[in-house]
Amino acid sequence: MSLKKAYEQYFKIGTSVSKWNMEWPQATRELQKHYNSITGENGMKPMFVLDMQENVEHPEKYNINPALNFDSIRSFLKFSSENGLGLRGHTLVWHNQTPLWFFKENYSLDEKAPWADKETMLARMEGYIRGVLTFVEKECPGVIYAWDVVNEAMEENEEDGWRKKSPWYQTVGEDFVAYAFRFARKYAGPGVKLFYNDYNTFLPKKREDICNLILKPLLKEGVIDGIGMQGHLILNDSDLKEFEKSVLAFGELGLEVQVTELDIHCNSPEEEAMKQLADTYAKLFGILVDAKKNGKANVTSVTFWGMKDDESWLTGFRKEKSYPLLFGEKYQEKAAYEAVMRVVQ
Ligand code: XIL
Repeated sequence: MSLKKAYEQYFKIGTSVSKWNMEWPQATRELQKHYNSITGENGMKPMFVLDMQENVEHPEKYNINPALNFDSIRSFLKFSSENGLGLRGHTLVWHNQTPLWFFKENYSLDEKAPWADKETMLARMEGYIRGVLTFVEKECPGVIYAWDVVNEAMEENEEDGWRKKSPWYQTVGEDFVAYAFRFARKYAGPGVKLFYNDYNTFLPKKREDICNLILKPLLKEGVIDGIGMQGHLILNDSDLKEFEKSVLAFGELGLEVQVTELDIHCNSPEEEAMKQLADTYAKLFGILVDAKKNGKANVTSVTFWGMKDDESWLTGFRKEKSYPLLFGEKYQEKAAYEAVMRVVQ
């Protein structure tokens, strides 16, 4: 048995993948066995696609149509199509892992240089999205089934929910989200689904802001297909009741729901902690399967953020060793794996 077979009738099972994972035969075997979808953990983000040297050296030439380098994206496309895996495109428009110079007048490397004006930034955004989407469609049509068009535009604490420090917000204003989706719809291949992706989407205020400020306006324009709930959870802290409410609220809008970056931070490998982790995963998958079965939310894929514990980004991010996934260092199945399988068996 395997994850993807067990969940076949419900939704795709994915994992994030690094460029090293694609080079290791054992990782490839695991990918073929358990998953039918992958997401590039880093390699398809703007910082790996924008050609710094070209843009910075020839700003007049690329000012409104940035130079791009597709080597990294190409390796994900090739690996996915060779291994029969669907690919989630992650991500086009984000405040993070997008170089600061991209937002500056004349692509200046000087941190204090002025922002480029709105018109220029919209042209750069369109150029970027057009470049990436037409490249992937020409190179490997049909491999990418969904794109995270905009990532993390919302804050959860402030009065007004927009992430105001984002250079996209600073240069374009809040309509940067709508522009990004319009451009993506214009250049995406047929059938490619467009997603808004964010973390902590289970928090009530954030859920409400996302629905009202982002999803509903985009739905009205017909330019969005789904919501990505990242799913970076913390054991015994993140509220699964609220998570379920969000799944149902997004489902009710008629959007596809995907869990795009699932992991549950847990700082102990002891049996008791691993049992709690297993229970939490079981509850979460129970929520997703029930929502799908009962027609309450069209959950179409669930992607883990990492193949095994020792490779998880959480150890760096949380600054303590984390054991957040279904597989241990040697790809051995943990109690959490058994628990996730039991949900559907
Ligand atoms: C993370 C990667 O896992 C790390 O390797 C990298 O250093 C930083 O980004 N939300 C997202 C992902 O949308 O792209 C992030 O991935 C995790 C949080």
